[in-house]
Amino acid sequence: METKYWDLNDTLYTESAISEAAELLLKGETVAFPTETVYGLGADATNQQAVSKIFEAKGRPQDNPLIAHVAAKEQLAGLVESTPGYVDKLIDQFTPGPLTFILPHNGKCAGNVTAGLSTIAIRIPDHPVARDLLTACRVPLAAPSANASGKPSPTTAQHVWADLNGKIAGILDGGATGVGLESTVLDCTGDIPVILRPGGVTKEELEKAAGKVLLDPGIMNEHGKPRSPGMKYRHYAPEVDLWLIEGTAEQIQEMIDKEKSHAKMIGVMAQTNVAAQLHADQVFDLGNQPEEIAAKLYDALRTFKEGDVDLIICEALPEKGIGQAIMNRLKKAAAKHIGV
Ligand code: TXA
Ligand code: MG
Repeated sequence: METKYWDLNDTLYTESAISEAAELLLKGETVAFPTETVYGLGADATNQQAVSKIFEAKGRPQDNPLIAHVAAKEQLAGLVESTPGYVDKLIDQFTPGPLTFILPHNGKCAGNVTAGLSTIAIRIPDHPVARDLLTACRVPLAAPSANASGKPSPTTAQHVWADLNGKIAGILDGGATGVGLESTVLDCTGDIPVILRPGGVTKEELEKAAGKVLLDPGIMNEHGKPRSPGMKYRHYAPEVDLWLIEGTAEQIQEMIDKEKSHAKMIGVMAQTNVAAQLHADQVFDLGNQPEEIAAKLYDALRTFKEGDVDLIICEALPEKGIGQAIMNRLKKAAAKHIGV
């Protein structure tokens, strides 16, 4: 299949590109588009056959449900049976934005969107291209991250192209995404909301708005059993093994030197102050602020190529605020977690 590529950085092109993309989606094709978190691979969520093309293009396991993206609160309400009171508060405060609500569905979306579950994941993305596309389509768009299953999520259209060129109908290139990590997935089926996947909205922010919020204990522990189907798979894997190291710059350097002595080429990822002290074959400076690290993380994971390095050593980061989502992704990407 030839994959159409629209460069939206050329503003003259934007409107016609959105309507062409919407037309393809309404015909049952798949199109990748930017959101504020990562690029999504969209299909008409009411069309079972269209949705099955997402699973095929990504090589995604069939038992892993998708997020339905909608343009507005009213459209969200039209897909669910009921919402607890706290959901209204969260919608008002955090949408459009990187928060996904798990709610009992009313059967309006195709069965493969929810992988046969009684609940559906829904979010209202905060990106002008995603919003314009949803408005043009008028149907909810099922959209997982637009990467090949198992790889790091795409934060640029080039990442999408590398994974899915030839397998999807089109890519809307709206530049690099902002947040860089996926949305927070929040189970809203009970009296107290439960975070199933940490993400763009932090636990601290949710608690300020809605009171008590729980964290699914299965997700931060590498050996736990997560409740969200997608969280059980190995994810975000770079081309070569990644080791996550808890330790000082000196301890990390010792580890690098030890592995180098086995004639390995070493890549390293660390915060600015630590990266400045490290010597390795490739050094990726993740930045200082957690938000900056989140935005750079997936690009960092994709930068290290097989053939250039044999091993990536990554500094473990504090698990506060968005750091919780960063460490969740790094633990999933890592082949080894050392020093805990
Ligand atoms: O930021 C995001 O959320 C991006 C952009 C494109 O919107 N999308 C995304 O989708 O990350 P995906 O498919 O890569 O991750 C969706 C997660 C998976 O872990 C999936 O298992 C979970 O949401 N999920 C979907 N429906 C669910 C449900 N009914 N119950 C529990 N977990 C669900
Ligand atoms: Mg994904």
